[in-house]
Amino acid sequence: MTLNFLQVPVIAVDGPTASGKGTVAQRVAGLLGFSYLDSGALYRLVALAALQQGVAPDDVGRLAALAAGLKLRFAGDRVFLDDQDVSAALRQESVGNMASAVAVFPAVRAALTERQRASRVAPGLVADGRDMGTVIFPDADLKIFLTASVQKRAERRCKQLIEKGFPANIAILSKDLQERDARDAARSVAPLVAAADAVVIDSSDLGIDAVVDQILERARRAGMGARGGV
Ligand code: CDP
Repeated sequence: MTLNFLQVPVIAVDGPTASGKGTVAQRVAGLLGFSYLDSGALYRLVALAALQQGVAPDDVGRLAALAAGLKLRFAGDRVFLDDQDVSAALRQESVGNMASAVAVFPAVRAALTERQRASRVAPGLVADGRDMGTVIFPDADLKIFLTASVQKRAERRCKQLIEKGFPANIAILSKDLQERDARDAARSVAPLVAAADAVVIDSSDLGIDAVVDQILERARRAGMGARGGV
């Protein structure tokens, strides 16, 4: 039986930067055999393209045009922009900070909306971001809001950057995280906020496996095992 678009189950995983969303969402998607949408990568790609082309962070017209015209290709865990492998470049903190700045513009967000919705394909989708459960997939079958204390998130981001060979300083990271949270939460369009029907999980004292187990249990209760083949 073919599922129509709105019947394809979606698990929305939203939350602040460095809360572990990416790792958790990818793991859940793999275990359920669902696709995975890293919506932050789209904002990072706009940011990277803008940095490469010298587009100012307040030039809304050019930023929206960049967002609408992104020539992307995802291959496993690699991301290509105009056929250039940008997977490593995307993870730099400077790109994440620029992403948060360009993401405040409604025109940039609108230019990326359809691309995100198009990733809703059978047998299901796990979508990771800030507004997955509120704006992009308001009818998601399960909405998770994953958070953790600033201290824990700064420690995790520091470890992650060092493992990837980038320089990292915990005090600077902690300040950047708080600034980014404040900007993401304060913007007028699609602010970082838990959907009213989201399950909030604080992962400050939980490992990845424990968070994944909680989400899988909720997915099963929401009837996703049967359709997703778990
Ligand atoms: O990895 P990290 O959580 O720091 O960032 P990300 O998920 O890659 O997203 C980078 C930035 O894009 C965020 O700080 C947000 O401002 C923005 N973003 C957004 O506005 N909406 C989304 N659905 C995803 C990301």
